[in-house]
Amino acid sequence: MNSQDSGGLGLVVAGREEDFVDVALLEFAEACDVPTRYSCRSGVCHTCVTAVIEGKTDYLEPPLEAPADGSVLLCTAAPHTDLVLDL
Ligand code: FES
Repeated sequence: MNSQDSGGLGLVVAGREEDFVDVALLEFAEACDVPTRYSCRSGVCHTCVTAVIEGKTDYLEPPLEAPADGSVLLCTAAPHTDLVLDL
């Protein structure tokens, strides 16, 4: 995956490449069968808060209350750079 090249998320499954543009990290994780915690899926409950180990994100829809520095809400954020998350 190299999000800097496409401006989104890339996934290759069984040789078929899919691009995810303007897709939240939560949706991408689900597409990859990566288990995550979530509830509201709209940036309200903070159940999906996840530590960012490396990289930057942007919010597709700004959350009501931003999480602490160094963490992100998976349900409303997308990558701005390549990312490493503590899922
Ligand atoms: S699932 Fe509620 S804030 Fe992300």
